[in-house]
Amino acid sequence: MDNISLKEGVNWVGVVDWNLRDFHGYITRRGSTYNSYLIRDEKIALVDTVKYNFSGELIEHISQLESLDKIDYIIVNHVEMDHSSSLPIIAKLATNAKILASQRGKDALIKHYGPEFDRVETVKTGDELKLGKKTLRFLEAPMLHWPDSMFTYLVEDKILMPNDAFGQHLASSGRFDDEVDENELMEEAVTYYANILMPFAPLITRKIQEVVQMGIPIEMIAPSHGIIWRKDPSKIINAYLSWSSGAAKERVVLVFDTMWGSTDKMARSIGDGITSLGVENKLLELRATDNTDVVTEILKAKGVVVGSPTLNNQMFPSVSSFLTYITGLKPKNKVWGFFGSYGWGGGAVKGMVEMAKKAGFEVYEPSVEARYVPDKEDLKKCFEFGRQIAQKIKVA
Ligand code: FEO
Repeated sequence: MDNISLKEGVNWVGVVDWNLRDFHGYITRRGSTYNSYLIRDEKIALVDTVKYNFSGELIEHISQLESLDKIDYIIVNHVEMDHSSSLPIIAKLATNAKILASQRGKDALIKHYGPEFDRVETVKTGDELKLGKKTLRFLEAPMLHWPDSMFTYLVEDKILMPNDAFGQHLASSGRFDDEVDENELMEEAVTYYANILMPFAPLITRKIQEVVQMGIPIEMIAPSHGIIWRKDPSKIINAYLSWSSGAAKERVVLVFDTMWGSTDKMARSIGDGITSLGVENKLLELRATDNTDVVTEILKAKGVVVGSPTLNNQMFPSVSSFLTYITGLKPKNKVWGFFGSYGWGGGAVKGMVEMAKKAGFEVYEPSVEARYVPDKEDLKKCFEFGRQIAQKIKVA
């Protein structure tokens, strides 16, 4: 590994996971990285570790710069295992290191790795750790991404290490924003936000405001996944402010599955109705589009229309899976519409509407349904339904 330096005495010692394609269900087509940083001053600190199967590589990267027994502190910004599962091995080799985490981080480390982690020392917002000329300042950031999460700020170097926040699942040879394709980078940043951090939008807005109010200058943001923002950290901060505000375009996403083509026909007519009012829309069939991508499209749209055929008096399993995923992610400020087909008893549309209302979504009603195969009249109703949805989001 080349010596990858953020600033003098601050090095990236993480690993690139080129082959990761599934991160707890989130499809990661461009792999990921687990970033770990070594800060060397009179005292030496390691910020975060990596996923356990890369622990050998982490050890090698640290050893190229420093012997592990010289490490004085290991900072655990977040306990999720992609960042902490090498900690037990590193802690055994870094025999002189104190481990620092938030109080909830300490609790989670004990639950993950056993009672020996009772020796973890806790830090809280505002606490500082002097390494010599360099100072680490801690800022708790609960739910970004877990209750234990915290940010570490390098005061003199003006580097924010926010762990999951501002990350991207992007494997690359470049480590910095000015070394990778900007479009790919922002595509992965928005997908990451939509699939990991969307439920915590209000907390993100508040945390960014808190950091701004603290008046801490940020020259670099070094997250725990993907590239380091050094060219223009404000770009990702502004993007997060926009995404977390629920701002979206005048656009509708139609998400559906189909058994014998009826729901597909309905989706096309609804789409035509939306288009007739000049509103951009996109049809995404669930068996052709992964939930990961559907969710990213939804983040950018003001309207979402979901369709399902009826199977055994219920919605189709792929639609149920999608709704379970999206209701958990709690997208804000969307207008939702539902449509579906059935043969006799029905049940899909009723089930979808109930699920959406329970999640607190704003549901446009009445929904539209067709029996067996939609005829001309049914398709006219679909077209009109599309126009109603388009009108609704135009005034939203
Ligand atoms: Fe990258 Fe919440 O772990």
